[in-house]
Amino acid sequence: MMEIKIEKAKTLKQKPDFSKLGFGKFFTDHMFVMQYNDKEGWHDAKIVPFDYIPIHPASTVLHYGAEIFEGMKAYRTDDGYQMFRPIENIKRMNDSAERLCLPTLDEEFTLKALETLITLEYDWIPNLPGTSLYIRPFMFGNDESLGVHAVHNATFVIILSPVGSYYAEGINPVKISIESEDVRAVRGGTGYAKCGGNYAASLRAGKRAEAKGFTQVLWLDGVERKYIEEVGAMNVMFKIDGEIATPELTGSVLPGITRKSCLEILKEWGYKVSERLISVDELLTAAENGKLEEAWGTGTAAVVSPIGHLFYKDVDHVVSNNQIGELTQKLYDELTGIQWGKKPDVRGWCYKVKV
Ligand code: PLP
Ligand code: COI
Repeated sequence: MMEIKIEKAKTLKQKPDFSKLGFGKFFTDHMFVMQYNDKEGWHDAKIVPFDYIPIHPASTVLHYGAEIFEGMKAYRTDDGYQMFRPIENIKRMNDSAERLCLPTLDEEFTLKALETLITLEYDWIPNLPGTSLYIRPFMFGNDESLGVHAVHNATFVIILSPVGSYYAEGINPVKISIESEDVRAVRGGTGYAKCGGNYAASLRAGKRAEAKGFTQVLWLDGVERKYIEEVGAMNVMFKIDGEIATPELTGSVLPGITRKSCLEILKEWGYKVSERLISVDELLTAAENGKLEEAWGTGTAAVVSPIGHLFYKDVDHVVSNNQIGELTQKLYDELTGIQWGKKPDVRGWCYKVKV
């Protein structure tokens, strides 16, 4: 396996107050960087002091958005730390790479890179309830030429950020606006890939929603604008008349690892779970008839986030009295229990490292 060179920072940064982390504002002392070109493949893997990345002004990423990323977390345990289903993230990154014509990664090597970097930065893994070390691997195409082609050069980087909760609301219900104008992705496009362009396309609707007091936007499908897809940084699930429904993976929705894990847990708990098309009419009719019992989002950053309001075309629908629902809470407790190493990991989801 390729060697990872380590150049340690001469001075270490002052760590932030772990009780006031927010999301993605602080970065650790080091980062992992590796280069690709067609001739050599992936090479020059190293851990270096966290710093700016020099970039050619004609680099593909700056003009044509050739960029993909992942989001995962490391949780501090009594004798080290653990990552939640890291191989799933690496596999998804390779699916994104395939879609964007970027080079794929070796799974075992990428896991080794993650482990080497996180172990070096162990002191940065926060120890307070609800905190973790957010891991952001990303890759960009950087041919130094303006032609529009699949790239021949790429850079892969991993940065780490100690985080608290993603939403200012914490575990309190978020207010979601169902977007009726802009669309995020279409089938055949890049919706299922975790690429920067999807997020760029979502910013305008997000800004409008925020100005009206909403936390995030819930996207509808890009063709009929009829079926529920997902929220800006999380997948969604609904408890309708005792059953769990979540949008099926049609190609324009990100296949969330938290989504997949929650569906497995819910099925084990005996719930009827369906992955299917859910129209906005069906959802809001259920809300009006009192059949929409709970709604929540799932994601690495968002964990399990209750949804308290669904706003669509000037009408506000309150869900679960704007309280966290019973099942949402139970799912949050189960998932975070496993991730934080407080509940038995019977499914073998955690990758444990002793430090
Ligand atoms: N959907 C979008 C658009 C996301 O950005 C995320 C976050 O990664 C998710 C869903 C949830 O995916 P995961 O559970 O793998 O973090
Ligand atoms: C994540 O949940 O890891 C995400 O990537 C969401 C977001 C911050 C874009």
